[in-house]
Amino acid sequence: MSDPNDLKAFWNDAWAHLAQGVADGTSPARYPTFATVGPDSVPQARTVVLRGADRTAALVEVHTDIETDKVTALRHTPMAALHIWLPAADLQIRLTARVEILTGAQVDAAWAQVPVTARVSYGTQPVPGTPIAEVHAYEKPADRSRFAVLKCQLTQMDLVHLDVRHRRAVFAAQDGWQGRWLAP
Ligand SMILES: Cc1cc2nc3c(=O)[nH]c(=O)nc-3n(C[C@H](O)[C@H](O)[C@H](O)COP(=O)(O)O)c2cc1C
Repeated sequence: MSDPNDLKAFWNDAWAHLAQGVADGTSPARYPTFATVGPDSVPQARTVVLRGADRTAALVEVHTDIETDKVTALRHTPMAALHIWLPAADLQIRLTARVEILTGAQVDAAWAQVPVTARVSYGTQPVPGTPIAEVHAYEKPADRSRFAVLKCQLTQMDLVHLDVRHRRAVFAAQDGWQGRWLAP
């Protein structure tokens, strides 16, 4: 194990877990909880799939249907929090991000990478969250125009490691991600 007092190593560990989440469907980092604030100021949280993680650009990426409540929330307040708990590593990762909603020609390359069988995740009729008369009264056509990439530009990362002595650090874009230790 690396030096527990090494902030940079702690940061690198977190990014390695995020990269693993993108690559490996069995990693708990694959399924962050993605939280937004609704137009009514009520917090909302849901599971998403982590589709991209770029340490250099401090970006993570999520795909969604533009007709979901999370997109409505992000149009109102373009900030999100992502939460990941990695039980085997005893590590909690919390990310705060400013989110840009990309659609149309901006997402051509991402759409091309979505397997045909997965494209039905974008286009449910009636739109997600609509009351329906019975349990299966909906269709799932693939609708390219409903596909969105949520480009999450990180503003902060908070890490808690339940080591023998717990460790907590916060890293912020504002100071170039140098990081500092916090009381856990
Ligand atoms: C394991 C799992 C993975 C999911 N992945 C996504 C995803 O990548 N993008 C997404 O929009 N919804 C995903 N969902 C569905 C959301 O959790 C949520 O039910 C849906 O997006 C509607 O959320 P909203 O109305 O709060 O926006 C996933 C659900 C589960 C259980």
